[in-house]
Amino acid sequence: MKINSQSTKITSCKTNLLVIGLFEKEKLSKELSLIDKQLNGEISSIIKSKQFAGELFQSQTISTLKKIPAKKILLLGLGKEKEFSLEILRKIAGLTTKFVKKQDFKEFATNLQTKIIKNTTIEQRTQALTEGFLLGEYKFTDYKTVDKDKIKTISSCIFLEDKKELLALNNGIKIGRILSDATNYVRDLVNTPAGIATPTFMANEAKKLAKNKSIKVKILGKKELTKLKMNALLGVSQGSSQEPKLVIIDYNSSKKESIALVGKGVTFDSGGLDIKPDAYMVDMKFDMAGAATVLGTMKSIVDLKIPHRVIGFMPLTENMPGSSAQKPGDVVIAYNKKTIEILNTDAEGRLILADTLAYAEKNYKPNAMIDLATLTGACIMALGYTAAAVMGTDEKLIAKLKSSGDETYERVWELPLWDEYQDFLKGDVADVRNIGNMKGYEAGTIVAGSFLKNFVEKTPWVHIDIAGTAWFIKETHYNPKGATGYGVRLLSNLLQNWKK
Ligand code: BES
Ligand code: ZN
Ligand code: ZN
Repeated sequence: MKINSQSTKITSCKTNLLVIGLFEKEKLSKELSLIDKQLNGEISSIIKSKQFAGELFQSQTISTLKKIPAKKILLLGLGKEKEFSLEILRKIAGLTTKFVKKQDFKEFATNLQTKIIKNTTIEQRTQALTEGFLLGEYKFTDYKTVDKDKIKTISSCIFLEDKKELLALNNGIKIGRILSDATNYVRDLVNTPAGIATPTFMANEAKKLAKNKSIKVKILGKKELTKLKMNALLGVSQGSSQEPKLVIIDYNSSKKESIALVGKGVTFDSGGLDIKPDAYMVDMKFDMAGAATVLGTMKSIVDLKIPHRVIGFMPLTENMPGSSAQKPGDVVIAYNKKTIEILNTDAEGRLILADTLAYAEKNYKPNAMIDLATLTGACIMALGYTAAAVMGTDEKLIAKLKSSGDETYERVWELPLWDEYQDFLKGDVADVRNIGNMKGYEAGTIVAGSFLKNFVEKTPWVHIDIAGTAWFIKETHYNPKGATGYGVRLLSNLLQNWKK
């Protein structure tokens, strides 16, 4: 979808569909009153009759019968003016794409960005709308062959605004597009079947980024990983025919301040020998969402020209039960020399992250490390699909993430990493166990985070469990069913505001 701005009034805009928002009990603006008059009072009469009351997400289409240059009007309810927010704008925009497609329009024009929200700029509002439009329009269609021509797309959206605001508007469109394109890229990667999106495929995707002068990509294969003794990562890959990879994407490598982003990249999680039941295995192509989000974030920060060094790490492997698979009871010596007793081969994400966090800290000495992982089913039990769980060793970094989460609405909720939780990880045979020694999976998300803590020495570190937010079982306003691309906007916002 092309998105542009234009200094035209709604009264004179030639478009097939004019999208206009109204709060509950809002008085018609001067321009809208003019349109109302030209339409013989149709707008005021549907408001008067309570057919349209401006309730949140209410909608009403009006044919203009050539009385004004716009062919049709879509009136959208914005709810109570006091409760209006950037997130409501995103949601409204997402819903708009659905209306537009359903009614077979290819283009539309809107002035939704003119609706005032306290403490926001027109640039921010335009950005939020752009995000809602581009994220809402997304559909994964790579593998559809039948009736492909019936898949509806929108070709253009035009923001209508006063001339003096166009610069701010265009900036908002630009940033919104960078973030949405990167998010949709992550959605594509995560939705791609695991038979295609292998560790090698992901490494090749990373290579494409190296076209940018500010990016260097390094790919470590099985040989290099063996030499480095990254046995926790190698152990997970043992049961698979696919070669594991550790991909390192280094942006602005000469800058002093550096942030490491680490993403779990299990391109398929069968559970290994502790094999998952069918209903739990079916979506496990999504278990590389952490890595995909790191890749997408690296893509967006190049375009946003973030002034710091950001280093993305993607440990990539399958978790399969092949004949050389790791066995319950096996012990591996991790990169940092700690020994791990593997008591459940399905708790594999923490193993590949353990080696990668230790490797990143030792070899790159970043100022901060953030990892993202679809790590525990327990995270979905705790927070559902609404927020990711965040925990770590640095309260300031957690506070920054929370504020970026509130701004982007890719929200995080903190769980504690108290020392007591380490007790559950004490091994009988090795230094640490990869699962807690309790009755079941009590505090499963915290136990997984506590495990990771053993592999970070002194660098401020935060872990984000995205098991519930990376994949939706139902579509929402601007998130589709399947991969959501959660995390790109959150991390990009954090990096944009890093030194503020
Ligand atoms: N990839 C899964 C986590 C997961 C499970 C995400 C379900 C989304 C939905 C992870 O590797 C895993 O299998 N974790 C186990 C850990 C357990 C064995 C301690 C889990 O959560 O069941
Ligand atoms: Zn698993
Ligand atoms: Zn997993």
